[in-house]
Amino acid sequence: MDDSISWRLSEMANGMERSRILSIAASVRAMIAEGKSVAPFTVGDFSPAQFDVPSYLTDAIIESVNDGDTNYPPAAGLPELREALSDWMIHRYDLDVGSDGIIVGSGARPVLYASFRLFLEPGDGLAHGVPAWNNHYYVHLNDAIDIPLMGTPESRFLPTAESISHHIEDIRVLILNSPLNPTGTCFTRGELQRICELIVKENTARKSTGKKPIILVYDQVYSTMTAEGVEHVHPVQVCPEIFDYTITLDAISKSLTGTGLRLGWMALPPSLAAPVIALIGHMGAWPARPIQKAAAKLYSKTSMLEDFFDDLDLRIYKRMSALKNGLDNLNRYGVSYVEPEGGIYLSTHFDIFDIIGCETNEEIRVWLLEEAGVAVVPFQAFGLEQDSGWFRISIGAVSVDDIVQAMDRLAQALRNAYGS
Ligand SMILES: Cc1ncc(COP(=O)(O)O)c(C=O)c1O
Repeated sequence: MDDSISWRLSEMANGMERSRILSIAASVRAMIAEGKSVAPFTVGDFSPAQFDVPSYLTDAIIESVNDGDTNYPPAAGLPELREALSDWMIHRYDLDVGSDGIIVGSGARPVLYASFRLFLEPGDGLAHGVPAWNNHYYVHLNDAIDIPLMGTPESRFLPTAESISHHIEDIRVLILNSPLNPTGTCFTRGELQRICELIVKENTARKSTGKKPIILVYDQVYSTMTAEGVEHVHPVQVCPEIFDYTITLDAISKSLTGTGLRLGWMALPPSLAAPVIALIGHMGAWPARPIQKAAAKLYSKTSMLEDFFDDLDLRIYKRMSALKNGLDNLNRYGVSYVEPEGGIYLSTHFDIFDIIGCETNEEIRVWLLEEAGVAVVPFQAFGLEQDSGWFRISIGAVSVDDIVQAMDRLAQALRNAYGS
């Protein structure tokens, strides 16, 4: 970096990493613009051409704009939206924080950032699974101590009570995400219960010493998207005592496939709400009034929402099936995956180092892109540094046909490389 730039910036800004996923996605977009056949399995976004948001929502946004809803919204969110979201959280997850415990922000990111700011002092331990989406950036932003919990294919890349127990004394905030980005795997009841009980036990012990408790940040932005036979579980459903220590994050970005509409929320014990409202206010990270009004209407229509989520599950299922079929056919070349359980991602193992003659994930990524037009993100972008051949495939921007064609190109490229 140019000295005169680093001299002017803060240490925090100097050390800030650019999102690796967005850099890869930008290069893929450039190739597509040049007319190359590339399946963009990279971004965790939804292409509006493939996944449209409910028209009831967009109609209500337009109506609200036409009604002149252009002034500041209240800092915590419109009362009718907080009410509707509170009812939804009870209906769907048995989580009752009341409307006072719901605070909205412009997407999940501001409420995620707020949850870290509320509890972490510089030097506090922030524990998170690896691979996982973006946590390592938040460790840096908060000057926290990084406590990575290494996932393995055997644990479906999820952190376990056992892995957490090794660091329990150093943890101030534990973030869990289920369904998990980047792996598409979900906690079972038993797995989540063991983790929650461990936290409650540790916090009970801390009470008598005055040491601050472990706060569980539970990021469930993909919670409405689960594969057939898989249930999404919320911590209070398996361990009611965790309520006082749990911050739940959710958003319409993924659930309604409306990443650009920018509406997320935090559900937390209402006694903790005041500083969050102040922080969101200082950041000015409120969602616009029209999206709040529209979401309040939609979230009052439970059956309309449930229908949308069922249909979305079906659309995800069709894409995942095409993908799994294609990858199953490549098994003999060393391609495998972890069964997807939720969200829009598939963890894929391209153990093709010998076939294409390389040593790093980056070389595999470039080979897949250039030889097969398959754009994927290596697990290094999610904190797993080893060159182990693991990649994230996202189906948010592709059709079933795009997937079938990409798998055909990949099969051909592997056949050529293998010489058969
Ligand atoms: C697990 C997870 N949490 C939070 C977010 C952020 O969501 P939003 O776009 O609402 O800020 C994402 C986005 O990819 C995500 O994957």
